[in-house]
Amino acid sequence: MSEGVWAAPGRVNLIGEHTDYNDGFVMPFALPHSTRATVSRRDDGVLRLRSAGARGAPVELRTADLAPGRGPGGWTDYPAGVVWALRDAGLKVGGADIVYESDVPVGAGLSSSAALEVVTALALNDLYELGLERQPLARLCQRAENVYVGAPTGIMDQTASACCVAGHALLLDTRDLSQWQIPFDLAAVGLELLVVDTRVHHAHSEGEYGRRRAGCESAAAALGVSALRDVAYADLEAALSALEDPSLRPLVRHIVTEGHRVERVVSALRADDVRALGPLLTEGHASLRDDFAISCPELDLVVESALAAGALGARMTGGGFGGSAIVLTEASLSATVTSSVAKSFAAKGYEEPRVFSAVPSPGARRVA
Ligand code: GLA
Repeated sequence: MSEGVWAAPGRVNLIGEHTDYNDGFVMPFALPHSTRATVSRRDDGVLRLRSAGARGAPVELRTADLAPGRGPGGWTDYPAGVVWALRDAGLKVGGADIVYESDVPVGAGLSSSAALEVVTALALNDLYELGLERQPLARLCQRAENVYVGAPTGIMDQTASACCVAGHALLLDTRDLSQWQIPFDLAAVGLELLVVDTRVHHAHSEGEYGRRRAGCESAAAALGVSALRDVAYADLEAALSALEDPSLRPLVRHIVTEGHRVERVVSALRADDVRALGPLLTEGHASLRDDFAISCPELDLVVESALAAGALGARMTGGGFGGSAIVLTEASLSATVTSSVAKSFAAKGYEEPRVFSAVPSPGARRVA
C-alpha cells in the first residue's frame, strides 16, 4: 500500500555559474518540471526502485549493503546514494518501495539528478520522521552525489530543488548557506524567460567540470585565500598579475566577474529594473564562453540568434558543454525569438532545440 507521493523540481540558474564551489553566490529558481516519487516503507531493509515508464524488473538493493562505488551504475545510484548518505549520517532509515515519474528533461543541465535525490530524501525524511530541515537535507543529497555517485558538484542544485519558493529566485550564499527569496515575477512586467534545451550533452563534461573546480582551488591556494569568493572585484587586476600560472587567470576572471554580476542582478531586481538583467546575462555568457571555456557551438548559437531576434539577454545555464540556455525577452517577442533560434539550428543541421517558458515554481513538497 502506498504511503504517499512527493515531488521535487528541476531548476535553472539565473546567474552565478560555477560560483558554488568557490563559496560564492548563486541565484537559481525552480522549474515547473518535477520528479514525483510514490513511496511506501518496508520493514525488511530492502530498497526497491522503479521508474514508472520502464519495463523490466525493479532494482532491489539491501540498505545495509549500500556503499560508495558499489552501486550498479545508472539512475538508481542517485536515490541509493541518498539512502546511503542518510544512514551514514546516523539517521535511522530502513527500506522502501519507490516508483519514480519525471518530466524534468534528463541530461539538459536542468538538475534532473538533484530532483531525484531531493524527492527521495524528502519522502524518507517524512516517512521515517528524521526531522531534517531543508538545508541539511540538501547537503546530504550533495554528499550522495559527491561521494556515492562520484560527481564533484557544488550545493546549488540540491538547495534549489529543496528550498525554492514559487514566484521567487533563490539568492544563496554558498559559504554559509544564508538564503534570500527574491520576488521574480516576469509576467507582471511583460517579460518572459525561455529555456532552450540544445539537446547536446558532451560526454567529457564531468572531467572538464572537475578540472575547472581543481583549477579554481589551485588559484585560491596560489592567492592565499580560502576560496575565490574572497578575491574582491576591485582587486581582480592585482590578483591576475599575482598568479604565476597563466592558465589560471581566465578561471579567476570568470569567478570574480561572475560574483560581481550576481550583485548587479540583485541590485537591479531590488530596484525593479528587470530589463537591466538582459545585458548582465549576455555578459555572463561571454565570460563562460571565453574565460571559463565551458560553452559549445550550440549554446553560443542560442545566444547569438536570440539576441539577433531582439531578446534582452541570454546565456548558457548550469554545468556547460551542452544542456540549456536561458533567454530573457519581452513576452511579445517570445514567439519570434523561439522561431529564430529554431531556424538557426535548422540552418546548421542541428537537432531542433526544445524551448519552453519558465516560471519560478515551488520547491520540493509532499503532494499526496
Ligand atoms: C552543475 C553543478 C552545480 C554548479 C553548476 C554550475 O549544475 O551541479 O553545483 O556548480 O553546475 O554553476
